[in-house]
Amino acid sequence: MKYTSLIPSWNVDKKCVIVRVDFNVPILNGAIKDDFRIRAALPTIDALLNAGATVIILTHIGRPKNKNPDLSTTCIVRWFKKNDYDAYFADTIEKAQALEKQHSNSIIVLENLRFFPEEKMGSMEFAQSLAQLGEFYVDDAFGDMHRNDTSITFLPKQFPHDKRSIGLLTQEELAFFNSILHHPQKPFTVVLGGGKVSDKLPLITHLISKANTILLCPAISFTFAKAMGKPVGKSLVDETLITQCSLILEQAKKHGTRIVLPEDYQVAHESLQGTLSYTESDKIADSDYGISIGKKTIKTYSSIIKESGTIFFNGSMGFADRPETMIATNKLLKAIAQARGVSVVAGGDSVAAAQANGSAGGFNFVSTGGGAALEYLCNATLPGLEALLSDVTN
Ligand code: 3PG
Repeated sequence: MKYTSLIPSWNVDKKCVIVRVDFNVPILNGAIKDDFRIRAALPTIDALLNAGATVIILTHIGRPKNKNPDLSTTCIVRWFKKNDYDAYFADTIEKAQALEKQHSNSIIVLENLRFFPEEKMGSMEFAQSLAQLGEFYVDDAFGDMHRNDTSITFLPKQFPHDKRSIGLLTQEELAFFNSILHHPQKPFTVVLGGGKVSDKLPLITHLISKANTILLCPAISFTFAKAMGKPVGKSLVDETLITQCSLILEQAKKHGTRIVLPEDYQVAHESLQGTLSYTESDKIADSDYGISIGKKTIKTYSSIIKESGTIFFNGSMGFADRPETMIATNKLLKAIAQARGVSVVAGGDSVAAAQANGSAGGFNFVSTGGGAALEYLCNATLPGLEALLSDVTN
C-alpha cells in the first residue's frame, strides 16, 4: 500500500489535482538544458489529464535567495507549451485559483515554490493556502522527498488519506530501490562526489553498514583528504566537517568497509578556469584547485566497479561546459554501464552526464533523485513518504 500510487483508482474528472514534482532542472540563459526530470513525471501528469483533471504543478528550481527571474518556473510553462500541452503560469496562489476556473483540464504551473519564504519554513499556514488549489494531492517529487519543505511534509497532511498519494514516477523509483534494499547483489559499491558535503556525511555514516566500498570523488573527497592530513591546495573543503570525516573513516575501518580516496587528481592552476594538469594526491600545490580524479584513480575505480554486484553512481565531477574536465566522469560512467553488476545513476548532474555521453542506456536504472535515493537506501523511508502516511492536520 505504502508504495502503490492511488492515481489509477481515483475519479478526478473536472477536479483539481495538486502534483508536487521535482522540476529542479539545469537552466542556462532561461533555457532548460536537460528535461529528464520533466519527462519522468509525464506518466502521472498524462494519466491525470486523460482522466479529466486540472493539474496544478508545484516545484522548486535551484536555491534562490530572492526572486531571481532566471529561476522562475515560466521556463517549465514554455516547455509544456512547446510539447503541445495546454499550460498556464501563475505567480501567486490567487492567480492559480483564478486560472483553474478559466482553464479546466489544463496544466497550471505555480511560480518557483522557493520564491515563497514559507516553503523552507515548514509553515502550516502556507500549506493551508496551497491546499486550496486542489481536492487531491500527489507527491511525484521523488528527488525532493528527503527535504522537510512545506509542500513535501506539511501539504499532504491537509488531505484525507484517500485523496493523497505518491505519483507513478515515485512508485517506480521506490520499487527499484526496494529491490536493491531487500535483495542487494554484493559487493555493493557507491561512487560518491558532488559538493553538498554536509548533506552527504550522514548518508556515508549509514552507508558504512550497507556498502562494501565507497569510492569518493571531488569535491567531497577533499574534506576527507584534509582530515587525513593530505594537501588539498585551494580545493573545496568544508572546514567545519573535518572532525566528522575523521570519525567516519575510523568507523568504516572498524566495520570493514573500504572508503577509497583518489590517488591522483586533475587540477586547475590558479583558478577553476585555469590550465589543467594531473598530479599525485600528495603533491597538490597550494595554488591548485582539484577538479576531477586522475588517470591512476580512473583505473583503480574502474576495476573495483568491474567486480561489483551493485553499483550506485552519484559522483559526477568536472564542468559540463569544459569537456576536458569531464573525461573521468565519462570513463567511470562507461565502465559502470558495461559492468555485470546492477547499476544505477542518480542525481541531476550525474544523469545529465550519462545522457550526454550515451551511457545512460547501459544502466539498469536512471534515477531522478540523488540525495533522496541515497537517503532512501540508508533509511528505507523519506520525510515525504512519512508525511503521506501520517494523520490529517488542518
Ligand atoms: C535535487 O536536485 O537534488 C533536489 O531537487 C533537491 O534540491 P535541493 O538539494 O536544493 O533541496
